[in-house]
Amino acid sequence: MRKLLIANWKSNKNYSQIDTWLSTFEKETEVIVALDKLEFQIVICPPTPLVMHLHEWQKKSLLFPHVSIGVQDISPFPAGSYTGAVSGPNLEGLDIRYAIVGHSERRKYFKETSKDVALKVNQCIENSITPIICVDRKEIAAQADLIDPEKYKHLVIAYEPIEYIGTGMSQDVTEVLAVCREIRSAFGEAIIIYGGSVNPDNIDEFLEHDEVEGFLVGTASLDPEEFVDLMKTKM
Ligand code: PGA
Repeated sequence: MRKLLIANWKSNKNYSQIDTWLSTFEKETEVIVALDKLEFQIVICPPTPLVMHLHEWQKKSLLFPHVSIGVQDISPFPAGSYTGAVSGPNLEGLDIRYAIVGHSERRKYFKETSKDVALKVNQCIENSITPIICVDRKEIAAQADLIDPEKYKHLVIAYEPIEYIGTGMSQDVTEVLAVCREIRSAFGEAIIIYGGSVNPDNIDEFLEHDEVEGFLVGTASLDPEEFVDLMKTKM
C-alpha cells in the first residue's frame, strides 16, 4: 500500500495563496505521476473555509485519484444547534476523506481532551470520514481505551511527539519505531504514521521502515516545492 503524505496547513494560507500553491504542486506532481514514480497517497488539509476551493480544484485536476482532501478538525456533535462548529453532515458532498482530530495544538490551545477526541472519531466514522488521531506517547493507552476496538481498523494514528513539532528536527527513527510498536499493540489494525518536523532531509530515514505507514507534515507542507521534494526523495 502507498504511504500517506498528509499536508497540514494549520491556520495558514488564504484563497489566492492556495491557488499559487496548487499550480506549482500540480505541475510538479503530474511529472512524478507520468514517470510512474508516485509512492504516496496525498492528503491536503486546508483551513476549513478553503475546503470548497480545494474541492473545486480537485474536480478538474488530473491528480484526482492521488490527492484527497481532509479537514483539520470536526465537531464532536452531529448536525444541529452547535453554533460555530463544523459537523460531519456539513461536509457531505465535498468529498472529504479525512479529518485530523486531537492535534496537540487543539489539545493545548483549545483544551481538547481524549474524550472529546473519541466523540469526534465517532462523528467521523458515522460520516464516512477517516479520522487521523494525533497522539503523543503518553496519550496512547488512554485514547485507545476511549474508542470502541471495532473501530480501530478505520483509524489512522499519527504519532506526534510534541517536542519535535515545528522545530526542524525529527525524533530519532529507533525511538519512533518503538512507539509505533506501542501504538500497534494498543490500536490493532490502525494505520500508523509519524509527524514532527518531517522534511526532505529526514524523510528517507523513515521511508525504509514499513512500520511507518505515512507522514503528517506541517512546516514542510507550506511551500509547494518543499512538499514535492518529500515525494522525490526516492526518485
Ligand atoms: P511540523 O508539524 O511538520 O511543522 O513539525 C507537524 C504537525 O504539527 O502535524
